[in-house]
Amino acid sequence: PLALLLTVAFAYLLGSIPFGLVITRAFGLGDLRSIGSGNIGATNVLRTGNKPAALATLLLDAGKGGIAVLVARSLVGPDAAQLAALFSFLGHLFPVWLGFKGGKGVATFIGTALALAWPAGLAVCATWLATALLSRISSLSALIATALAPVWLILFEQGDMVLLATLLAALVWLRHAANIRRLKDGTEPKIGAKKG
Ligand code: G3P
Repeated sequence: PLALLLTVAFAYLLGSIPFGLVITRAFGLGDLRSIGSGNIGATNVLRTGNKPAALATLLLDAGKGGIAVLVARSLVGPDAAQLAALFSFLGHLFPVWLGFKGGKGVATFIGTALALAWPAGLAVCATWLATALLSRISSLSALIATALAPVWLILFEQGDMVLLATLLAALVWLRHAANIRRLKDGTEPKIGAKKG
């Protein structure tokens, strides 16, 4: 009812804060959307060469998803927590403040996964890290980590979240269409490379 509606609205609004833009502006790093891939996420912030700004973006974009989930769970319950995960993620992808042109959702996906189901969430982080160490490519790591999230959820017996994870992973993949093209062409830049 009302509490559910409010937590969903709160989740969307929190998710819609584009921390990458806020932080690069605060650090005076120029317009993120004209740098590298033009994306508002931590990977692109790193292309400015400012590691603390990239780390802060990663933590805040993940944290907003996690907080939306924790607030919804404690105020309403587990189903509301899943809805909050969905809406904070949608807020990041489609923020009203940026004409609904937001980010790719990887950090927010990870934050909601950790808050909803931390064992699977940690496994998603480990998958991202392992792929990143091997390939040094952020987008490839995100594609593999999100695609495997439903598998981790099943292995950790949190099957009630598989539908949500599959939906979010599908949206992450759709948002990476340009990255997937570059991966096929062999032109996707490595993590931290200045040119995107
Ligand atoms: O988090 C998004 C990442 O997977 C790719 O970012 O800037 O290389 O498109 P970017």
